[in-house]
Amino acid sequence: MDFVMKCLSVNQKGNLSIGGCDLTDIAAEYGTPSYIMDEDEIRKNCRVYTNAMNEYYDGKGIVLYASKALSCKYIYRIMKEEGMGVDVVSGGELYTAIKAGFPAERIYFHGNNKTDDEIKMALEYGVGRIVADNVFELESINKIAGKMGKTADIMFRIKPGIDAHTHSFVQTGQIDSKFGVALETGEAEEFAVKADSMPNINVVGVHCHIGSQIFELAPFELAAEKMMNFIADMKDRHGIEIDELNLGGGYGIKYTESDTPIDYDKYICAVSKVVRGISESRGVKLPFIVMEPGRSIVAEAGLTVYKVGAVKEIPNIRTYISVDGGMGDNPRYILYQSEYEAARVCDPLAEKTMIATIAGKCCESGDILVENARLPEVKAGDLIAVLATGAYNYSMASNYNRIPRPPIVMVSGGKARLAVKRESYDDLIANDLI
Ligand code: LLP
Repeated sequence: MDFVMKCLSVNQKGNLSIGGCDLTDIAAEYGTPSYIMDEDEIRKNCRVYTNAMNEYYDGKGIVLYASKALSCKYIYRIMKEEGMGVDVVSGGELYTAIKAGFPAERIYFHGNNKTDDEIKMALEYGVGRIVADNVFELESINKIAGKMGKTADIMFRIKPGIDAHTHSFVQTGQIDSKFGVALETGEAEEFAVKADSMPNINVVGVHCHIGSQIFELAPFELAAEKMMNFIADMKDRHGIEIDELNLGGGYGIKYTESDTPIDYDKYICAVSKVVRGISESRGVKLPFIVMEPGRSIVAEAGLTVYKVGAVKEIPNIRTYISVDGGMGDNPRYILYQSEYEAARVCDPLAEKTMIATIAGKCCESGDILVENARLPEVKAGDLIAVLATGAYNYSMASNYNRIPRPPIVMVSGGKARLAVKRESYDDLIANDLI
């Protein structure tokens, strides 16, 4: 079947179907635009990682779902059931996870500028690890933990100086990055020594995340090598034992036919060889491994279904298909010129006779979802789906032009459930006081 999402099929009526549900039925029931997520596919992706963790590290590790990719109560429930941990980056994500009943000890709290309130909240809930970003934050954590009579178990974020090939806004491992402390300048070493001397801090591990939507093995292997050598250096030079190594996320997914992701367990296999090799050669014990995939867990499990309004042909220039959503529900084109593929919901495999740009309904020329999409003929009233929108769409959605955010519908085994309801106009004015 020629769709970028493996969980799609065409049913007997000739309609696009996900999780055994006909998209025309879902659109009729829940309206458009709507995010539709295949729950079984999400769970399957979790298991690829947890199985690989068992196979290549003998289960001595944890897979965290990076919940910035898609955060809502239901997703944390799925992660709990799958035995995953989660990475949160704000009080809001933390609150959502806790309210969903996610176990605090499996929550890792990230972020490059946690507020005192967020640090306090994390310590009160008893999150597993706070991942400190910088010395200023370290001092705040030490002070707040002291006041609360607690010891904070921390990891700290290192930028290992790796320039992974991806969009510059989603690269984070290089020295010119707002995240973490640098390895090559000695900043990371100073941090470790300082943290180790603090009374209310327990340095458990180190963390790095080199970027997102990466398709190569080498940057991950290199990052693991640098991080393992750092762990060994800290032991040799300062007697500081670092027990946990968090290697971040960033594994690329298939947005378009030209994307060629590597099987996720191959990354884990390759990286585990590096980690084991250095553990042996430098005489440090094998650390407990943490990894944090976000996009690769949810992106290919989701799509957004829209209804087509005007189809505007500008002779010799371009045809615009306008839909009832846009940059409010998917800002990734306007932010990163991201590419997507789209499908007509009825008879999606019909001959693709049309090349058209799918535009949204916002007052903004850059409000585009898919540039030069190849589709069968599309007319007003048709349903179309933009594929692989499960990550960084709902979580990055806005109310620009006061357009309510779409709902999230979870599908599994032919059944659909509303996980997040559509915002109403009253939701939009709920905080307007006067
Ligand atoms: N861990 C840390 C510390 C991160 O900063 C990120 C992503 C992840 C894990 C998960 O990375 P993933 O496996 O999802 O690639 N809004 C952008 C992506 C920003 C990613 C930020 N950090 C986009 O739409 O492409």
